[in-house]
Amino acid sequence: MGRILTVSSQKGGVGKTTTALNLAYTLGRLGNRVLVVDTDPQGGMALASNLRKKTTLGLAQYLQGEAQAEEIISPTKDGALSIIGAGVNEASDILAIEDASRDGRLEEALRALTAGFDYVFLDAPAGIGSTVIADFGVSDGVILMLQCRSLLLKSLPIFLKLMRQVRSDRNPRLQLEGALVTMWKGDDPLEREILEDLTRSVPEALFFRTVIPYDDHFEQASIRAVPMILLPDGRDTARPYLELAMEMKERELLRGMGGSKDEHTEGLF
Ligand SMILES: Nc1ncnc2c1ncn2[C@@H]1O[C@H](COP(=O)(O)OP(=O)(O)OP(=O)(O)O)[C@@H](O)[C@H]1O
Ligand SMILES: [Mg+2]
Repeated sequence: MGRILTVSSQKGGVGKTTTALNLAYTLGRLGNRVLVVDTDPQGGMALASNLRKKTTLGLAQYLQGEAQAEEIISPTKDGALSIIGAGVNEASDILAIEDASRDGRLEEALRALTAGFDYVFLDAPAGIGSTVIADFGVSDGVILMLQCRSLLLKSLPIFLKLMRQVRSDRNPRLQLEGALVTMWKGDDPLEREILEDLTRSVPEALFFRTVIPYDDHFEQASIRAVPMILLPDGRDTARPYLELAMEMKERELLRGMGGSKDEHTEGLF
């Protein structure tokens, strides 16, 4: 059974699209069947991944009955993952996604489009709105992107509250997969202090151990529209996403280890 994860943040421009693309690509190259869906009406995934070179069709056309699933699910040429773009070519496409977020059709579409994958990443719009709530409505987990600034960390309780609300109203499966600190500037004493505080005061399960450092290479990868690991000098910069993929696998494994009494006492055979 595959897992659907929403990549969200309170503030814009903190690396949601970058994370969805790089983490998805890493998991895809590790042999998983992976899909990324751009649910951001202002979305940049089609640009960030160069999907536009192949098609301008996406979620908006599917929701308006102008395209079939197979026309909007685009596998990359190396087969590592598939991407569905937002398909926003006109202002009316933005409204189509927003309307569908409010009346349940986006959730229905996402359920239909995401079957058969091991991992689905929903690239969400910034902040809290009907599209994010629809994304949460179909998701198993949320990756919450945070910059290490004290003001931004204040968004954590709001997101946790929203998740609790969606969980109790419509989707009991929803969990916080983890908050992910990104654009981390290790040489900024204030950021270091905040990160140290966080690792001391917040339960380990809430935050990923992996932190994505601030690195100008990301801008270059965005311009070239490729996952970081494909840039000739991008391997070191891409490494945190490999670590993040491993950390996700570790969390899955540990969640799945029920530790039932029989397992402990009866052994493997
Ligand atoms: N760790 C990083 N270090 C430096 N720059 C980064 C990092 N991650 C992403 N960027 C750059 O920051 C910009 C914004 O990133 P991205 O588009 O992924 O953010 P976003 O949260 O999806 O934005 P939006 O809210 O507008 O959708 C991009 O130009 C990207 O290349
Ligand atoms: Mg984005």
